Amino acid sequence: MNIAVIGLGYIGLPTAALLAASGHRVYGYDVNAPLRHGLQHGHLPEMEPPVRDAVLGALRDGHLHVLDRIPNAQAYVMCLPTPTHEGKPDLRYVEAAAAAVAAVAEPGAILVLESTVPPGATERVIEGALAAAGKQIGDFHVAHCPERVIPGAIMTELRTNARVVGGRTPQDARIVRDLYASFCEGPISVTSLAVAEFVKVVENTFRDVNIAFANELAIFAEELGVDVWETIELANHHPRVNILAPGPGVGGHCIPVDPHFLSDANPFVTELIQSARRVNDRMPYRIVRRIAELVDPGRGRKIALLGAAYKADVSDARESPTVRVDTLLRERGYSTAIYDPLVERFHRPLCGTLEETVSDADALILLTPHTLFATIRPEAVASLMRTPRLVDTRKFFDTADWQRCGFECYVLGRPFKSVAVRAVA
Ligand SMILES: NC(=O)c1ccc[n+]([C@@H]2O[C@H](COP(=O)([O-])OP(=O)(O)OC[C@H]3O[C@@H](n4cnc5c(N)ncnc54)[C@H](O)[C@@H]3O)[C@@H](O)[C@H]2O)c1
Repeated sequence: MNIAVIGLGYIGLPTAALLAASGHRVYGYDVNAPLRHGLQHGHLPEMEPPVRDAVLGALRDGHLHVLDRIPNAQAYVMCLPTPTHEGKPDLRYVEAAAAAVAAVAEPGAILVLESTVPPGATERVIEGALAAAGKQIGDFHVAHCPERVIPGAIMTELRTNARVVGGRTPQDARIVRDLYASFCEGPISVTSLAVAEFVKVVENTFRDVNIAFANELAIFAEELGVDVWETIELANHHPRVNILAPGPGVGGHCIPVDPHFLSDANPFVTELIQSARRVNDRMPYRIVRRIAELVDPGRGRKIALLGAAYKADVSDARESPTVRVDTLLRERGYSTAIYDPLVERFHRPLCGTLEETVSDADALILLTPHTLFATIRPEAVASLMRTPRLVDTRKFFDTADWQRCGFECYVLGRPFKSVAVRAVA
């Protein structure tokens, strides 16, 4: 089949490569001209090595072509960003791409939207775009097939994850299921457009609400004077309980964003969802408040931050709680240094070494539990810091070890009284 993939980002590019590897003739298009021209000359943006290999392979063997315009094709797979601004979904990228596709698509073509959208958006946007081009939606096969991949394992998950295909009609769903079956090994369920849209945002909202529950328990436990980690571990022995881990907030491209697609659509029935968002958004403030109890925010106070990625063992720093913690600390007069050898793109320069990061610092905050941080030796860090203090937001380190090396330790969700607070009392 001739397939045009519109939007060659995190999702579109590996999807194009996988379609190409499955024997389709694939044409990629992105509005970003430098990206297009780079790809046309074999220059790829930063990406996971398996994605890089697949894209380079598809470009080299000629099954994937990156074009400067959207061609006529049998199927169009649209992978556009769907950010939110102040809690409101921004569908402008999807609308622009749908308009461009509608201008060239011929009756009988398959139009698939992969982007995460609020329920009802796929039909509304595509129908509007086709109507503006003088065409009728009933002459096309329209579907929504949301993406579920996890950064760090994109290529594998694109191939093996279970997929949901929502069709405007049952026939549309079946046609698109057959297309996806040509490159997806996981089970593919078919349903309506609205259910497929709802499923995707519900999945991420489920994670957000459950993380908020763990965060709320962490705050409660501190005030109660008990250990939330022990509590969660013991509660999870119950065969039908599975409480997640607390942390410094929720990051990434999807989980903090997608709940807004529901709360914006219906603010009156989404109280729990909105309140979970607030609980998670407040976590960086709690961490910074703890720092203020530990370290007087006078001039020249330095806080070292471990981890810029939004979660362990990935290079992705989008919406990372570290950004918020860092900004709040600097607003309060601290200087900060951030260490994350996995992250290349961040809103400000990162430190090149752990030594430089912790040197003369008054506190060290563990924000991202990267596996590689497990080798950090507290005695080496203590000798470089001005004051050995550890704030561990993920119960990552063995604090007994750090205390033996002279550290004052605070672990999120554990009872804590700092030396400073104890002295005042
Ligand atoms: N990245 C993830 O891990 C992930 C996981 C699941 C779902 N999603 C969803 O998939 C969708 C795509 O996300 P992404 O991470 O690939 O975004 P991205 O920002 O990495 O890529 C989107 C690409 O679309 C291009 N673009 C924007 N407007 C365009 C237009 N009018 N025509 C052609 N190209 C255009 C951009 O230049 C960009 O290269 C989003 O809805 C996202 O929520 C992403």
